[in-house]
Amino acid sequence: MENRYLSLKLWRLRLGLGALLTFSLVGISMVSQAQEVVLEIKTGAQVAQWSREKLLTEAVDITILKDSAYQRTMQYRAVPFAKLMPNVGQYGSVQFVALDGFVANITGHDLAGAGQPYLAVETLEQAWPAVKPDNPAKTASAGPFYLVWLTPAAGKITNEQWPYQVAKISVELPLQQRHPQIIPAAESLPKSRISYEQAMRGMQVYIKNCAVCHTMNGGGDAAIGPDLNLPFNPTEYLQEPFLRQLIRQPGAVRSWKQSLMPGFDEQTISKQELNDLVAYLKRMASQRKYR
Ligand code: HEC
Repeated sequence: MENRYLSLKLWRLRLGLGALLTFSLVGISMVSQAQEVVLEIKTGAQVAQWSREKLLTEAVDITILKDSAYQRTMQYRAVPFAKLMPNVGQYGSVQFVALDGFVANITGHDLAGAGQPYLAVETLEQAWPAVKPDNPAKTASAGPFYLVWLTPAAGKITNEQWPYQVAKISVELPLQQRHPQIIPAAESLPKSRISYEQAMRGMQVYIKNCAVCHTMNGGGDAAIGPDLNLPFNPTEYLQEPFLRQLIRQPGAVRSWKQSLMPGFDEQTISKQELNDLVAYLKRMASQRKYR
């Protein structure tokens, strides 16, 4: 008993020292890297490296009225996305990998559309504030690179399509083609009243809003939230009204400072889309892949 307690304490001490060491290393590398952050943009076989300086030579001043990360009006030096990927409309899906494990897959259609995307570049002279100063997990800024939209409503752009702390942008196949285990099976299930069509619509809602942080059946790009089917599906262990409430406003179901999941209001996920999403989750529960 005592031995276990001792080793636990030692382990804690090691963890503490490790964290201290890591923090100081991160601190040093952040200072030295601050001068030379590079964004990688991959289109097929072509890989371009954009330094902060090179990006800033293409940048213009923009004002974002309802900024998603900061929830207020923001001014940025930013590059029109079309300058970085001239024929973006022809690509099925473009992937934005963030430093914190968030991965957005945004269609070329959205990126070429009426939302008018820009890549905002944090400058050394004018550093951006913390994303959420009161959440201990969110004290870094949205920099060095942040995808913002000048007219998001016109392009039906949701909050999860504003990836920040972007490290890499690449043209990829759509998520469901790379991870087919997230696709609902076409054959109808004996007891299921959920149509295949509804489940497929729900999958699109999932890809746009949830797959940026979660995986499904182990498939996906992100690594922030838990898998939504393994080992169990939330429709199995949460009563449906609570699941719906959790999606709308996680803090209404359970609340703590480090919580990372955002809420989705009716403008972002309509009533119909929420029905489709819950139907998708339910349907996936019946085609779980065991590891
Ligand atoms: C920005 C990242 C992020 C996004 C976007 C997100 N989630 Fe989450 N989700 C999390 C994290 C992290 C948790 C763990 C609890 C927490 O930190 O809030 C979580 C928890 C959950 C849970 C509870 C699981 C459990 O067992 O406790 C469910 C259900 C869930 N998310 C579903 C969804 C659905 C559905 C969507 C899309 C509409 C979504 N999430 C979008 C990050 C996210």
